[in-house]
Amino acid sequence: MLPTETNLLAAKTKYAPVVAIDGPSGSGKGTIALAVARQLGWHYLDSGALYRVIGYVAVKNGIDLEDETGLIGLADNLDIEFRNGSVWLDGEEIGDEIRTEEAGKRASMVAPIRSVREKLLVWQRSRARPPGLVADGRDMGSVVFPNAICKIFLTASAEARTQRRFRQLRDKGFDVNIPQLFKEISERDARDANRAVSPLKPAEDAIVLDTTNLNIEVVVSEVMTLVRSTVKSMT
Ligand code: DC
Repeated sequence: MLPTETNLLAAKTKYAPVVAIDGPSGSGKGTIALAVARQLGWHYLDSGALYRVIGYVAVKNGIDLEDETGLIGLADNLDIEFRNGSVWLDGEEIGDEIRTEEAGKRASMVAPIRSVREKLLVWQRSRARPPGLVADGRDMGSVVFPNAICKIFLTASAEARTQRRFRQLRDKGFDVNIPQLFKEISERDARDANRAVSPLKPAEDAIVLDTTNLNIEVVVSEVMTLVRSTVKSMT
């Protein structure tokens, strides 16, 4: 992408342009979104990390994952920053403890609480800053950024997603096994897709990409082609 094209777009749109990349666990959305953000020179938002941090802080502070009032208090006072691929909370870097499957499960348990999502909504929208934002999650295109210039929903078979998560977690040094991971991913998918508030589903105007048999480079290139053609039609 030529910097001039994106600058022109940022100048033309009232708000910073957003590319929304949603999908279930292991669909590759985090890796793809980060690569696309880097290629565009835009900001990157990992919205799942917000829910993971809330679950993490709740457990640390002895707050029950169903204690709505306690969780809202946490969401209200969240001093969180993303820097160099890491998450910082209250000025301290959080390591891989929020990346475990257990942390994902906790995130998925606090995520259905409407008031928690509402607090995070404001925070997430405030991240749409020039020259642009690439955001990944479950409801980026459907709820948080309905005016995103490009909405992509990545899918892949549960088996392929399990294999990817397995490699990801194993490479981080976690002790994981495939049958257990498959079960956890399936449970998390069901919880995320069946909740009443902002369930996991493609936005009506999202482009759905099945990545089961595609490697990262191919998906990044397809997404970049989509973004480029959208930008071209807008400038
Ligand atoms: O993308 P992830 O695996 O880091 O997300 C962890 C959990 O957080 C996911 O299972 C559901 C929740 N989540 C959400 O409800 N909405 C988002 N936009 C992102 C994540």
